[in-house]
This record gives sequence, structure tokens and C-alpha cells, in this order.
Amino acid sequence: MADISVKIAGIELGSCIFNAAGPKDVTLKELEAIGASRSAAIAMKSCTKEPREGNEEPRYCALESGSINSMGLPNLGYKEYMKFPALLKSFGKPVIASVSGLCLEDNIQMLKAFSDSEVSAIELNLSCPNIKGKPQIGYDFVQMDEVLKEALKISKKPAGVKLPPYFDFVHFEEAAGILKRRKPAFISCINSIGNALVIDAEKEATVIRPKGGFGGLGGKYIKYTALANVRKFYELIDIPIIGVGGVSSGRDAFEFILAGASAVQIGTAFMEEGPSVFARVQDELASFMARKGYSRLDDFRGKLKVI
Ligand code: SIN
Repeated sequence: MADISVKIAGIELGSCIFNAAGPKDVTLKELEAIGASRSAAIAMKSCTKEPREGNEEPRYCALESGSINSMGLPNLGYKEYMKFPALLKSFGKPVIASVSGLCLEDNIQMLKAFSDSEVSAIELNLSCPNIKGKPQIGYDFVQMDEVLKEALKISKKPAGVKLPPYFDFVHFEEAAGILKRRKPAFISCINSIGNALVIDAEKEATVIRPKGGFGGLGGKYIKYTALANVRKFYELIDIPIIGVGGVSSGRDAFEFILAGASAVQIGTAFMEEGPSVFARVQDELASFMARKGYSRLDDFRGKLKVI
């Protein structure tokens, strides 16, 4: 059987596949279900300083090949998530906090707190598209530089950053310049493609309610954009990349690693299929690698050929 284990930012992962911060990871019960699955780590919901109800319902809709959501960061507040690593210890997996402060001070306060907690790593989410009146920091390079400068230096735990999708080579280069300077322990790319609009023609209506129906697009629709982001950053910077966006099979995971990802997260497919998705995708990846004659991820990581 192929070995699909990996070490990222000093953290050993039994496999390169785990859940994306987002779906089904808000409550302790949901996190326990991830712990009991074959997800290699337990990524917790992006949290804010205070608990949030999130946006009004309906705020998630499964689509033919993916999903649209405008959840608005419903979460229990960071103090609850600080307690969870101890309660999830029996699963023997790294627990990853995801921090999505509504201002720089909140991010700093939460990073400091998680830094002294039992989490294995922290993902700073600079890319949630669903908070009314709050632009995605990952699209404001001045602010992104400032946040990373202040936030990363205080974390004693490996701290990475979750990025929005970029579409223009100039923006990739600008973001890469900041990442080279601020040196996060890893980057996760991509978050959902923000502010998509899905319309139900029969009902002549949007399929979600918040923000006039605009929301983040996820699932298979975004796989090629996610692959492009992983590849471009792999070319531009020397920082481990966690690929996320449209992974629902072992073959998808293989493509992300071939593009340069060190690990892969699953969002929409986990939401739709439940925790068994992790075992299935891992087994499919190992079989696909065996068929190709690869025994380790390093055998093909980043080795995409351009025809
Ligand atoms: C949300 O809660 O709105 C989704 C999280 C995210 O997109 O970062």
C-alpha cells in the first residue's frame, strides 16, 4: 500500500487528507465525528472573538456539482474552541484552530490565546466572503501584509493562512511577495469563490437568502481554480501548501499533490457525504498511486508536466 503520510510545519499527519475548516465542525459533537473518522487532523470552524449565530437561513445550498454558502461564520466563540483540543485528545490527531477575527485586534487576541492552548496549529482565515460589510482581507494586500506582520510574530504554534482564490498573475505575485516576507508556516488555498449567484429559474429566486443571494461557491465548480492557485504559489514560494476546493476523489487529491500541495482538505464533499469521505478518498489516492507505481507522495509532488 502506498504511504500517504506527510509532515507539515513539523506536524506529523497519518495521511495527507483532512477536513477543511467550514462544514460540520462547529460543535464538539461534530468535531468528535471528524476525530472518529479517518480525517488525518481535526480542523475546527473558523472562530471569532464572540460567539456568532451567522447569517440568516437558508444559507447553504447543495448544487449539482458543488455548493453555495453564506454561513457568516456561525461559531461558538474562540474560548469554547480553546477547550476542545483537550476533549478531543483521545483521537490522537492534531487539532487545528481556525481564526477569523473581525478586526486586527481580535485576530491578535485569538492567536495569542490559541498559541498557549493545546492546538497543534492555527489557520488564520483571511478569506471569508460572507461577512456583511467586511471585505476579504486576502484581496487587500496592504491590510493582508499588516495582519500577517502583526499576527504571525506572536504565535508560538505553527500558524498558516487561508487565502481567497486569485485570478490574475499580478495578484499572485503580489500575494507571494507578502508571504515570502511574513513566512506563514503553511498556506491553505483556496477558500470558496466569493459572491457567486445561483438562481432557481422555476422559483425565479435565489437559492440562499443572505446578501441578496450572493455566496461562496464550493465543490467541483472550483477545482480548477483551486489547482491553479496551488500551482502558482508552488512556483512562486517555498511554503507548504494545503490544497482545498473541489476534492471529492483520490484522483482529485492526486492532482492537487501533483500541482504542488503537501496536503489536501475536503469541504463540500464532506458536507454532502459525511465522515466516510476521508477513508474513501484516502483509499482511492493510495490505489491510484499504486497503479502509477508511486509509493510516497514525494515521488510525484509538484512534478506536473507542461505539455
Ligand atoms: C462562513 O462561515 O461563512 C464560511 C467560512 C469561510 O468562507 O471562511
